[in-house]
Amino acid sequence: MQATILAAGKGTRMRPLTDDTAKPMLPVVDRPLVAHVADAAIRAGADELVVVVGYGARQVRDYFGAEYAGVPVTYAEQTDQTGTADAVRAASPHLDGEFAVLNGDNLYDPESLETLFESGPTVGAFRADDPSNYGVLTTEGGSVTDIAEKPADPPTDLANAGAYVFPAETTDWLGVSRSERGEYELTDVLDRVVAEYDVTPVELGDWLDVGRPWELLEANERRLGDVSTRVEGDVSEGATLDGPVAVEEGATVKSGVVIEGPAIVRSGATVGPNAYVRGRTVVGPDAHVGHAVEIKNSVLREGATVGHLSYVGDSVLGKRVNFGAGTVTANLRHDDEAVKLTVKGKRVSTGRRKFGAVAGDDARTGIDTSIDPGVRLSPGATTPPGAVVDRDR
Ligand code: TTP
Repeated sequence: MQATILAAGKGTRMRPLTDDTAKPMLPVVDRPLVAHVADAAIRAGADELVVVVGYGARQVRDYFGAEYAGVPVTYAEQTDQTGTADAVRAASPHLDGEFAVLNGDNLYDPESLETLFESGPTVGAFRADDPSNYGVLTTEGGSVTDIAEKPADPPTDLANAGAYVFPAETTDWLGVSRSERGEYELTDVLDRVVAEYDVTPVELGDWLDVGRPWELLEANERRLGDVSTRVEGDVSEGATLDGPVAVEEGATVKSGVVIEGPAIVRSGATVGPNAYVRGRTVVGPDAHVGHAVEIKNSVLREGATVGHLSYVGDSVLGKRVNFGAGTVTANLRHDDEAVKLTVKGKRVSTGRRKFGAVAGDDARTGIDTSIDPGVRLSPGATTPPGAVVDRDR
């Protein structure tokens, strides 16, 4: 079956990390987020990928090429990012027969995708703690009978995860009107499919929508669980690797370093001497973690540098970010409330007791900078020495 992967979105809620990177290309452990989608789809039986590209199209095309993991890849260009139904419309000339639709920014587990693919028409679902934020499915006799968008009084806790197997005819039904938020939505197409076909809900295990920076951190936390110990790089005899730690070829771990897994040190990265890398951390390609630095539960992208005597916790550092010596991220509020972050101009709870900073590409801090929980640094932002950064810059 063909799997359509929607990867054209602008990823505005993920800013500043998406200013220069298409959201599906953000790293999750050792590969882009969308590669996890493609891998799961292929393991579930997809024999062709139809990838819808738009924002950052070149990055996605360059990554997959014409064939990925033995499966042909076809591209559809979505010129304006006007919604998921419009994205499938862009793909429709390439679709033939029953087809799957997946989001390029979701984590899926291959086993549940296999069930989704085998029993089409289907819709992927998850049990939501607060279903009123989602499209809520009503079912009868094993089929979906209704989808209520963000209902005040949800009939069930089964929410639409945005993964589908559609009958071939669906490509004729993509001409929906704009929704209240001004987009052409695939959920409106689903209404028609549910009315005309028996659509089976398939509960997806280990599913995650990666739309905002803390969800990128969570995606990494989850997939770091798959890391097993692998030492291909140069690890000093005086270093300690404790638990599952992957050190890729071309990476260097110096003397006195302690790394507690699960963690990965990517190719070209250097750690130490005497650094402490605690669990669920990705030290990205060519990143540098200096002397006496502590890093915990964080993602450092390509070329990010954390100077000596610094602490980075529960944070995401963009490409080539440079934290000056003694930079400390705070990741816990004194009132113990969940940390908030600004998303599209609004303060939003991350739902996490611990969350540090999000630094856009090329941001630089002066020595002894303190950063409050939930602060975002724009790409290229700088802080003077000794700064206390208590709001976004
Ligand atoms: P969203 O996460 O709703 O949109 P987005 O990725 O643009 O992010 P944001 O809302 O933060 O700006 O999109 C769901 C999926 O559909 C995602 O994989 C991107 C994809 N998509 C398209 O391919 N084309 C589109 O026009 C839209 C809106 C989304």
